Amino acid sequence: MHKRTTLRGLAAATLTLGLGLGGQLAAAQDSGTIKIGLILPMTGQQASTGRQIDAAVKLYMAQNGNTVAGRKVEIIVKDDAADPASTRRIAQELVVNDKVVALAGFGITPAAMATAPIATQSKTPMVVMAAATSAITESTPFVVRTSFTLPQAAVSMAEWANKNKIKKVVTLVSDYAPGIDAEKYFADRIILNGGTVAEKLRTPLRSPDFAPVLQKVRDAQPEALYVFLPSGQGAAFMKQFAERGLDKAGIRLIGTGDITDDDQLNDMGDVALGVVTSHHYAAAHKSPANQKFVEAFKKANNGMRPNFMAVGGYDGIRVIMEGLKATKGQGGEALLNAMKGQIFESPRGQVLIDGQTRDIVQDIYIRKVERVGGELQNVEFDVQKAVKDPGKQK
Ligand code: PHB
Repeated sequence: MHKRTTLRGLAAATLTLGLGLGGQLAAAQDSGTIKIGLILPMTGQQASTGRQIDAAVKLYMAQNGNTVAGRKVEIIVKDDAADPASTRRIAQELVVNDKVVALAGFGITPAAMATAPIATQSKTPMVVMAAATSAITESTPFVVRTSFTLPQAAVSMAEWANKNKIKKVVTLVSDYAPGIDAEKYFADRIILNGGTVAEKLRTPLRSPDFAPVLQKVRDAQPEALYVFLPSGQGAAFMKQFAERGLDKAGIRLIGTGDITDDDQLNDMGDVALGVVTSHHYAAAHKSPANQKFVEAFKKANNGMRPNFMAVGGYDGIRVIMEGLKATKGQGGEALLNAMKGQIFESPRGQVLIDGQTRDIVQDIYIRKVERVGGELQNVEFDVQKAVKDPGKQK
């Protein structure tokens, strides 16, 4: 019985082919699996970002099911080791060979930038779940972002520093696009509000050595050191900050939440206590939605605590899946349009994908590292609501 049906189906397909009915062929193709390409740094220096996002995407799919319009959704995970040339090659293969409806992931800015031309040429939406340089969303009309932007975080921190009578600061950032965004937006706002930036220091993205710059910080004697380093470098930095006695030298440590990354925070030790940062997500964020998310994430991942990268991934796959539901599985411009304007409650709070900029609008929290129930946590104590990327407001 089953065999006969299959054969009849085959015959119908052959007939369609013979008659050259392209539309029906396309319809036949449409009934197959919907594929999403997820490009992440699963190895190398940025591997914690890949691990967090991969786990979050798997959690979302397990919680919400993997079908859209009766079709199975398959997520193809590929490791680019945060090497932009690899990201680009993998993206090309995913578009041409696998016919993915969307590209997602992008652990660092150069990986996202390298992929933008492919998204434009093939009209494939790309969802940036991690990278955070403001200009990424302007690199192609096909990009949507669910992470954050450095200017979003940096301006709020500068406002806090000014309000708290911090006048003289030194900045220390990773020497590539997001670091330069953080440095510029923090310094400009500090100066606008009457403060001074004694020095602007930078360390290389790959294998940074913090010793020489920390000596310069000590010599400059600022009231606060403002730091942005990409996720994964915070623990090594904290260790050297303490080893050089800077925590005891009266120099206050402030920065973006990347340096008190929840992935590593609990192992940083007492040096992290009291560090004030601004960011869009803390695992300790108090909301029922977040509590549920953190519990489920830990349960599925041997107790691993989700960080802001995980939330970027969790929300990113949600935006894609909701978009696909609206288009009944269609990709391209239809999917892009279905992702614009989405508004929903994330574990981080209420978020909006701005229809104009395709960037995320979200609350930015000021947090302080405290020991809560024996664990180090980023405890939120102030918030700026519905922050749009200041980088777009030129
Ligand atoms: C980036 O490369 O855009 C990036 C990477 C890690 C972060 C933030 C930004 O924590």
